[in-house]
Amino acid sequence: MNRRNLQKIEHFVSIDTLDKNYITELIHRALLYKAGSSYHFLEPKFVTTLFLEGSTRARYSFDMAQKKLGIKSLDFDVKSSQIENGETLYDTVLTLSALGVDAVVIRSYEEKYYEELINSQGITCSIINAGDGLGEHPIQTMTDLMTIYESFGTFEGIVIGIVGDMVHSRAAHSNMRALKRLGATLLFYGDATWTVDEFKQYGKYVTFEEVLETADVLMVHRMQTEAYHAGYSETEYFSKFGITKERYEKMKDTSIIMHPGPVKRNVELASELLECERSRITTQIQNGVYMNMAILESVLA
Ligand code: CP
Repeated sequence: MNRRNLQKIEHFVSIDTLDKNYITELIHRALLYKAGSSYHFLEPKFVTTLFLEGSTRARYSFDMAQKKLGIKSLDFDVKSSQIENGETLYDTVLTLSALGVDAVVIRSYEEKYYEELINSQGITCSIINAGDGLGEHPIQTMTDLMTIYESFGTFEGIVIGIVGDMVHSRAAHSNMRALKRLGATLLFYGDATWTVDEFKQYGKYVTFEEVLETADVLMVHRMQTEAYHAGYSETEYFSKFGITKERYEKMKDTSIIMHPGPVKRNVELASELLECERSRITTQIQNGVYMNMAILESVLA
């Protein structure tokens, strides 16, 4: 297919390093892939996914994206690797790089784990961050941006409501940073103990009613284990922060619901809303494959 070259990026680790033009370019490329476009690398490319935390969506959407692009995937099984015997992440990635891997997609419980990898002289492969502790989840954010753009065609003036435990959600952190920069208005609702001054530069804390009645996009987040520590049972969480059928009725007819997954049905969201007409939760999963194709093309081409 005849098309402009996608901007090349060496590492894909933080939403803050991606400028507005690049974000727009990636969204359009992902939409092209979704419309059936394909891409073939001139040389063989080798990619490994190295997940130190559990994952279904991020890991397998990258697997799917690699297969669609004809990339040769190396299956890295943490449990049967020397990580189990104490080999560090740095030495593991150094080894994969020496083996000839072109990019490693990593999820770690450690915030900013990627810094020593991308600043290394010895590691020559690209790093794609699929989540770093409580830090960021830039690939989820790119998928979410694509999904919002697909529904509204713009970010300017779109009201985004973020509900639930946004403090312990890395996807919420990346999303608020990107969406503010792209011209969206952000409203937050969550437990008072999850109010963080840093977030006030991106949006404002309001009542649940205001979020429900004004949001174009309602971003619901996972009940993190910290919520249990805050003293909420699942039933209490649902009654205080959950998107019940009654709360859904208060939303605008044109609004959409998003959730990065995994969803706890009847805790964060009434079970029947997960697949309702205005839910984009499965669309986010589909879009993840196409966005990851665009990211891989940009990193490897
Ligand atoms: N959204 C997301 O990263 O989901 P997984 O934890 O299943 O990968």
